[in-house]
Amino acid sequence: MTQPSRPQDGRAALASFVTNRLGRTQARPAPAETKAPPANESAQDFEKLTGYRELRLQRSAADLIGLGNPFFRVHETRAGAQTRIGGEAFSNYSSYDYLGLNGHPAVSGAARKAIEAFGTSASASRIVAGERPGHLKLERALAAHYGTDGCVIMVSGHATNVTAIGAILEAPDVIFHDALIHNSVVTGAQLSGAQRRSFAHNDPAALEKLLEATRHEHRRALIVIEGLYSMDGDAPDLAAFVELKRRYDCWLMVDDAHGLGVLGRTGAGLHEHCGVDASDVDIWMGTLSKTLSSCGGYICGPSALIEYLKCTAGGFVYSVGMSPPLAAAAEAALSVMQAEPERVERLRRNGNQFLALAKKHGLNTGSSLGLAVIPIIVGDSLKAVTLSDRLFKRGINVQPIIHPAVPERSSRLRFFMTSEHTPEQIAQTVTTVAEELSALETGATLIEQLMARRGA
Ligand SMILES: Cc1ncc(COP(=O)(O)O)c(C=O)c1O
Repeated sequence: MTQPSRPQDGRAALASFVTNRLGRTQARPAPAETKAPPANESAQDFEKLTGYRELRLQRSAADLIGLGNPFFRVHETRAGAQTRIGGEAFSNYSSYDYLGLNGHPAVSGAARKAIEAFGTSASASRIVAGERPGHLKLERALAAHYGTDGCVIMVSGHATNVTAIGAILEAPDVIFHDALIHNSVVTGAQLSGAQRRSFAHNDPAALEKLLEATRHEHRRALIVIEGLYSMDGDAPDLAAFVELKRRYDCWLMVDDAHGLGVLGRTGAGLHEHCGVDASDVDIWMGTLSKTLSSCGGYICGPSALIEYLKCTAGGFVYSVGMSPPLAAAAEAALSVMQAEPERVERLRRNGNQFLALAKKHGLNTGSSLGLAVIPIIVGDSLKAVTLSDRLFKRGINVQPIIHPAVPERSSRLRFFMTSEHTPEQIAQTVTTVAEELSALETGATLIEQLMARRGA
């Protein structure tokens, strides 16, 4: 086993231990070895991949101080507000099932019916293998939700952003995006060849400065923001972004992956939350994997855009059509969401309760609105990983988010709330978090504990 020689080495290694791979895109460091290897060595060894050795070192450092790997845990049941891992019950805060629709009888029933009628696969691209009625039904339902001309669904939320942005923009164009935008948007921008400019999180004034200085240098411009931000649980001032996109002649795209089912009285999304007409946004993007308890992504917008993407976006044209049961499940989940706004209300009550209790205990919840995503910022990677580990030992499953997914000083635990958590469960969780954090902060420092365990 590779062992760090000094506690500081262990700390540095741990600081980059758990990388949330759905988080921000970091520029890849230039490969250390650019020359051909000596004749007796092969570069074609996967263990020589840039970063692989570092990954092993990080794991070894975590093993050294007895921290379990918080990722890739096998859940033995449908993971919602509760879960089972290793035969034990946990309160679960690592599920996107915001409205408790995964496993809902209407949703599972729709998926079963679709399997009976169409099997499990759409077999090939819809252009080649043709449509299934469920594709069109889901696209019509999503277009109706946003009041757009049309919609296109794709097999992955991540791929939807990559391929749609990659298809819409070209080299003479520019994309302006929030500094905390999802990796898939950045990757799509890179694919497109357009200039990429990021502005400070949730800061329309910062965007305005950028627009004023650079908009004239480019042909087309796309502004991309999210609905509910997945790391911080806050939301943008949509009206301010609409005003800017009009004034500077840009398209505005909202990735409402975490806003659908969460934001607004009925969970309609960011537009309902902000009291803005959905038609003021040019492109509505979302995923089926969160509130809609399925898998895939969608773009809703004007008919020319939808027709264009269906005929030119590589991630649609050259990729299989959505599996019929997944399309049916998402459509059924959207119907339940729209018919039962009390689920959205329960989620809001739960999030609000968690936030209020956390604040009462003096925990740092950043800018979270207290809805589906609530961070507890602890300010140090090692503390975040250790706190997550200690909570796991007390029956709470919650993920640490550390550098480079977030800046080191804002390392955190991220709690995903659902409408199905109970008030008692939430109260018990927040009290336990406060106890364990206080024990961590008042006990021996983590570095001291690390040194003691190594007999230093
Ligand atoms: C804001 C945002 N956009 C896109 C995606 C990608 O969606 P999916 O995981 O469904 O592929 C995610 C995933 O977490 C996300 O948070």
